[in-house]
Amino acid sequence: MEVSVTMQATSGPGAVGVAPGVEVSGVSKTFRTSAGDVVALTDIDLEVRQGSFVSLVGPSGCGKSTLLRIVAGLETSSGGSTLVAGTPVDGPRRDFGMVFQQPVLLPWLTIFRNVMLPADVARDRSPQARKRAEDLLELVGLDGFQHRYPRELSGGMQQRAALVRALMSRPSLLLMDEPFGALDALTRETMNSELLRIWSETGATTLFVTHSISEAVFLSDVVVVLSGRPGTILDQVQIDLPRPRTFDVMDSPEASRLTNRIRGHLHARGAVG
Ligand SMILES: Nc1ncnc2c1ncn2[C@@H]1O[C@H](COP(=O)(O)OP(=O)(O)OP(=O)(O)O)[C@@H](O)[C@H]1O
Ligand SMILES: [Mg+2]
Repeated sequence: MEVSVTMQATSGPGAVGVAPGVEVSGVSKTFRTSAGDVVALTDIDLEVRQGSFVSLVGPSGCGKSTLLRIVAGLETSSGGSTLVAGTPVDGPRRDFGMVFQQPVLLPWLTIFRNVMLPADVARDRSPQARKRAEDLLELVGLDGFQHRYPRELSGGMQQRAALVRALMSRPSLLLMDEPFGALDALTRETMNSELLRIWSETGATTLFVTHSISEAVFLSDVVVVLSGRPGTILDQVQIDLPRPRTFDVMDSPEASRLTNRIRGHLHARGAVG
């Protein structure tokens, strides 16, 4: 994993093998609606180290998805700045991968064609692109399902295909918005382990939104705790559990201490995370 690369000269959207850091400074967001203004975020300062795994937790409606969408370039902020690898975000980039709560697969395309979409859009018909799709599908245990349609796969398998599609363009920044929220507990645990394995292999800086405190602790280097709306940062909890991690780590006193610290913030404000 390339984590020690300096930000300026060697980084940028076109740089090869350089994972960007994310710098959010003084970001706020107000939605103007017919029913009045909705202040979703105020004064968010957040730094995500290159190659690190950072989770956002906080009560429903506190602005987690909004923050993720601002970093992704899918939403503009009302104030402040967002830099990825030192460059202001002014729209989605090819080196950003996004995974949403529901796997957004096209029902009329096979899994393979769905996964190949980013390459198709970029008109990349190279054997290397096909090979990458095949390798990634194998990595997430979907080899043998290439020619099936999304409806023929379970929710977890569809989410894995969506993850593969997000990884196709070798994203240096992976943004995931409650990707496993719809999955049963066992599938979710499997997906968490697979995600950590893939993350350690790709080295992508990852920003992950979840409602599950234990999921956040298990996966992350840092858990960012947001307050209720308008979202502000209450705490940034460093997770120094050893890696590589297996679920046993969650039985440790240190994991309990971290989980309780995060839960304390959320319960103190009447919000259950
Ligand atoms: N496009 C929009 N127009 C108006 N208001 C919006 C829009 N998108 C989000 N909001 C409002 O901004 C606030 C934050 O929404 P957001 O979806 O970011 O919350 P969240 O933390 O992701 O919640 P959840 O955990 O339920 O997914 C909410 O009050 C929401 O109603
Ligand atoms: Mg959300």
